[in-house]
Amino acid sequence: MDADLRTRLTAAATAVRAHAHAPYSGFAVGAALADEQGRIHAGCNVENAAYPQGLCAEAVALGALVAAGGRAVSAVVLVAGQGRPATPCGGCRQKLREFAGGEVPVHCRSVEGEVLDTTLGALLPLSFGPEQLT
Ligand code: THU
Repeated sequence: MDADLRTRLTAAATAVRAHAHAPYSGFAVGAALADEQGRIHAGCNVENAAYPQGLCAEAVALGALVAAGGRAVSAVVLVAGQGRPATPCGGCRQKLREFAGGEVPVHCRSVEGEVLDTTLGALLPLSFGPEQLT
């Protein structure tokens, strides 16, 4: 991922993480996505007293991207976790796969700035994606 884009996505994910609604887990997550036009869309996790109704940060960011007219994800930054950076959960890997191929970079960063760089393909090998339905 281009260093300037990574910086801007990291800033967006860090800022939106401050708005996380995570009273049950205490685990705040910020996600930022770049779309095919270079625009940035951000989301934080939104928990719910009925626990399974909570939303992950990536899902919220994807909703913002689609609502803004975006149709593809070209880069992902996730900011969460003390120590080891958090990586996207299994469900979010599949949600991202709807709009991103395996080559898309995923930059995970802990609150202290420890980083883990990977790709969606490494996180979700042999994935099932939209092209398999055509
Ligand atoms: N969470 C995310 O927002 N994204 C992930 O990929 C992993 C988990 C949230 C869900 C829940 O609000 C909290 O982190 C603890 O699981």
